[in-house]
Amino acid sequence: MLTSRFLKACRQEPVDATPVWFMRQAGRYMPEYRSLRKQYSLLDICRAPELATEVTLQPINRLEVDAAILFSDLLLPLEPMGLPFDFIKGEGPQIERPIESPADIDALRDFEPEVSLAHVLQAIRLIKQELADRVPLIGFVGAPFTLASYAIEGGHSNNFARTKSLMYGHPEAWHRLCDRLATMAAGYLTAQIDAGVDAVQVFDSWVGALGAADYREFVMPHTQRIFQAVDRRVPTLHFGTGTAAILGELKEAGGDVIGVDWRMPIDLAWERIGHDRAVQGNLDPTLLLGPPNRMFSRTDDILARVAGRAGHIFNLGHGILPSTPVEHVQMLVQYVHTASQRP
Ligand code: CP3
Repeated sequence: MLTSRFLKACRQEPVDATPVWFMRQAGRYMPEYRSLRKQYSLLDICRAPELATEVTLQPINRLEVDAAILFSDLLLPLEPMGLPFDFIKGEGPQIERPIESPADIDALRDFEPEVSLAHVLQAIRLIKQELADRVPLIGFVGAPFTLASYAIEGGHSNNFARTKSLMYGHPEAWHRLCDRLATMAAGYLTAQIDAGVDAVQVFDSWVGALGAADYREFVMPHTQRIFQAVDRRVPTLHFGTGTAAILGELKEAGGDVIGVDWRMPIDLAWERIGHDRAVQGNLDPTLLLGPPNRMFSRTDDILARVAGRAGHIFNLGHGILPSTPVEHVQMLVQYVHTASQRP
């Protein structure tokens, strides 16, 4: 496992070819996933270790990606905290009773991951057995801002109006909420590492909604605490979208690897982050819809900008879209490996 390209790149060690994996590499663009989804809901799959294992392995068996990511969902910890939810077809997640007031925050519960999310930890053990060290397994958790936004908005939001209203209007309550979420995230990641994951990614998908001053005041101390809790046990990745203006702050919060989306050239982003960290990114997922020539030329551009510097993990700026042709994903993995091969 120490020789894994992905783990080496996380540690900024030289590699034989650039490692590649994709956010949402298991999912609806794959016929084998869609066929399983005819029988089971997303939550059924997340709650059954055998099914979660099968889906985690689907992209490993079909693509030559350099890492597996645990098949689960960011929102699973909300339920044992007292915020049950469901996925509504065509609309995404829906929290039954979103947080509306400081009192709702004080009513949240703490939980033991080994009890309430035992099925996820069991999935990790099964996946590790099935992988038999072919590629490392990435575990993950949602960061306080992104999780708080679902808990408060009740689902996806375009402007995060309720989230920011609570943040600006009741700052002490906001900090109590983020403190609870960070404590949960630290404990949950620790349990995932104990169960066997080789690296962990902290998803702060929507934190690009904040500017640097608000990030520092309302988010950074909480996210920092999550990275401190993991404390060098495994490599850590820190991901967000729309974060061009706060890349330095994300780095300061933590992460051996900082995720970069497609809105900024990867070399400029890496300069802002600093070359003492690895970077992950940053192809626009829409380019995978086609035509392949444009996907390849943008890939060339990313690799040229990275220029062989140690510590680049190739990924998309966000998850694979459901309408992506599987063949394009397969071609892209091969292309990255071939084009980046070191003598
Ligand atoms: O392959 C992988 O990346 C691992 C699995 C994974 C899922 N969700 C499965 C999933 C991961 C890492 C997540 C994280 C997640 N979940 C995030 C952070 C990453 C990101 O995309 O920014 C967020 C914001 C969520 C919350 C969530 N889950 C939303 C907003 C949705 C609906 C949007 C959509 O694409 O329909 C989901 C559903 C979800 N989680 C799917 C998958 C594969 C959709 C598939 C389905 O319905 O079968």
